[in-house]
Amino acid sequence: MERIKLEMKKIEIEFPGVKALKGVDFETVGGQVHALVGANGAGKSTLMKVLAGDNTHYAGQIVIDGKNVEIRSPKDAKHLGIEIVYQEVDTALIPYLSVAENVMFNRMVNDMKGRFLVDWRKMRLESQEVLKKLRVELDPDAIVGDLTLAQKQMVLIARCMAGECRMLILDEPTAPLSNAETEDLFRVVRGLSADGVAVVFISHRLNELYEICDTITIMRDGRNVVRMPLTKELPQNKIVAYMLGRSFDEAYAKHEITLGDKILEVNGLTTKDKSVQDIDFYVRAGEIVGIAGLVGAGKTELCKALFGAIPHETGSMRLRGKEVRFDSPLHAVQGGLALVPEERRKEGILITEPVRENITIAALSKYCGFLSVVKRWKERVDSLSMIKELGIKTPSEEQSVALLSGGNQQKVVLAKWLNSDAEIYLYDEPTKGIDVGAKRDMYELIERLAEQGKGTIYATCEFSELLSICDRIYIMYDGRMVKELSAAEADERTLLYYSTGGGDSNGRGEENRRTG
Ligand SMILES: Nc1ncnc2c1ncn2[C@@H]1O[C@H](COP(=O)(O)OP(=O)(O)OP(=O)(O)O)[C@@H](O)[C@H]1O
Ligand SMILES: [Mg+2]
Repeated sequence: MERIKLEMKKIEIEFPGVKALKGVDFETVGGQVHALVGANGAGKSTLMKVLAGDNTHYAGQIVIDGKNVEIRSPKDAKHLGIEIVYQEVDTALIPYLSVAENVMFNRMVNDMKGRFLVDWRKMRLESQEVLKKLRVELDPDAIVGDLTLAQKQMVLIARCMAGECRMLILDEPTAPLSNAETEDLFRVVRGLSADGVAVVFISHRLNELYEICDTITIMRDGRNVVRMPLTKELPQNKIVAYMLGRSFDEAYAKHEITLGDKILEVNGLTTKDKSVQDIDFYVRAGEIVGIAGLVGAGKTELCKALFGAIPHETGSMRLRGKEVRFDSPLHAVQGGLALVPEERRKEGILITEPVRENITIAALSKYCGFLSVVKRWKERVDSLSMIKELGIKTPSEEQSVALLSGGNQQKVVLAKWLNSDAEIYLYDEPTKGIDVGAKRDMYELIERLAEQGKGTIYATCEFSELLSICDRIYIMYDGRMVKELSAAEADERTLLYYSTGGGDSNGRGEENRRTG
């Protein structure tokens, strides 16, 4: 297949109230793995949706292999060999069909439309062929609904490659992946680029870009500001400075906060489904407690169990010394808990409702004034202040959340809980999809709540974040808490050691003995 040569010139897109792209130039060629970065709402997804034929009302010029082209539908994009994998991989797959059927889905639909009979045997063989070429080990007969997220993503990539794909766009593919899964994805991407496919790679995890990308385009506020080879000569802090338009130090200085009494105590918690077992821990007033662990260690399950969303089998929970039992998230909220869930689009958001409603809904009692005018006014004031503090990019507080960029939707969920009046805040992977600047704003808000004496539980696999803001860190492995460390004792290596199953009795000791 011939390598693609793509140029986008002066691309503009306007949505009601938002000029999302203000004349963007972008170019890439087959074989290149091109990083596309920028703050939340900069226009990355919008630009790539133009190429995928999902933003059809663009102005500007697209030149492919020296010829002017128009991309006015997803079909146009496919004809040109351009494919995109969006972040919500779930919605793009048919869960009750097999891997083979999902990989060959587009062809299947075409055959059916053309009233050809679907040759199932041939289809299965071809899907195997595609998977083999990608060197992905997946059973073609497996049902997609049973796969892990990472495997589903591979199925989608395979689907793209089942056609005549010359350019593959991956919009934040690594956000939900573990390190090992990310390595697998990178292996596939390297293979594709060696075959001459042009890959565009969008990510907020800037450090991983160096591993996989050779070129970078940085966008800011609907414009492209830099395009250059990506090497160590362009350090991460420079990238961030271009993204934000100002210099920015990622290192975060934690505030001194005086800790109070234990406000949450959990003893011997085991859930009915055994996803977490024998959990003992506590949180003091003003304390930010980290839960470290890799993807699948049970952090999400622990948060859900505390929040009354997974039934307990044994164990007790005390809030300010009083025994509590939450049978549902509603109880938990009434009891003073707030949870920023990992699957925010699914669990945390009223997608078609305005930003204002989303931000104020978790604290409705605040707004139940006796005059509804008062209520509306206060809602407006509070949501505007949250929009400002978290830098949520929206034309107004009345915009529907569905129309915000991915990262800004995440920020709305954060805002919703930060605005609620809870005692204990649970955060499950809160920075997923959020740019480095917004991450800082979020830290500030979390610390401000801690200063008011709130308790914080911060669960993530991004160890550097835990090291930035936590007072104490528990490490989870296989549904259990395997270690507790003070901030002073913790570093990335130690966290990794325990979260990959290293123990005090054997691993470390052995190592010491051998070196000692
Ligand atoms: N369909 C739409 N209607 C209205 N505004 C939109 C629509 N799609 C995108 N926007 C706006 O366009 C701007 C760019 O959004 P885009 O999704 O491209 O950002 P992004 O760079 O991908 O950000 P993120 O890192 O958060 O995913 C945002 O202000 C967003 O709210
Ligand atoms: Mg996006």
